[in-house]
Amino acid sequence: MPSSVRQTTKLFGVATTLTCRRINAFLIWDKRQPENFSLAMCEMAWCSLKKPAKMFRLSVTSYKKQHPTQKPLPLMKWCINQLPRNCRAICDPFMGSGTTGVACVQMGKRFIGIEREPKYFEIACKRISEAYDQPDLFVMPTLPEPAKPADLFSFSAA
Ligand SMILES: C[S@@+](CC[C@H](N)C(=O)[O-])C[C@H]1O[C@@H](n2cnc3c(N)ncnc32)[C@H](O)[C@@H]1O
Repeated sequence: MPSSVRQTTKLFGVATTLTCRRINAFLIWDKRQPENFSLAMCEMAWCSLKKPAKMFRLSVTSYKKQHPTQKPLPLMKWCINQLPRNCRAICDPFMGSGTTGVACVQMGKRFIGIEREPKYFEIACKRISEAYDQPDLFVMPTLPEPAKPADLFSFSAA
């Protein structure tokens, strides 16, 4: 493998592209589940950031969900904080209820979200729009673009 390779990083659904020399970090979400819990007690995200493994601890029962696998907002903000400061735009190709988008709005990052289920797309748009309505005075806002589903299957030649 060449010494410098462009890698795609996947952070609990947040995808971004970074230039790195090798893959050497995991981001781990400790869901604070009891030992006898039937589902996973943690989620691990493979990551090409050059830093040691990091752990975020927050109970999976500590927040309300509009999506069955909705991530907690503090987790997504923590993930985004792991990225280099000059990372200004984030693409989540599995947007679900839009938690990554809400985190981006609150952190002054541009956001591109993709979601195939219309129901969750609507929920994401609503959550992101509400986040724009509640700006943080200390964060430089990004300009919202009107969100609408893209038709990936129609093609019009210019
Ligand atoms: C794990 S959930 C994301 C949850 C999200 N992080 C949240 O906090 O709500 C993954 C989402 O990806 C969507 N999905 C799966 N395959 C897809 C595809 N090929 N294109 C777009 N969305 C897809 C699913 O409908 C689901 O809502």
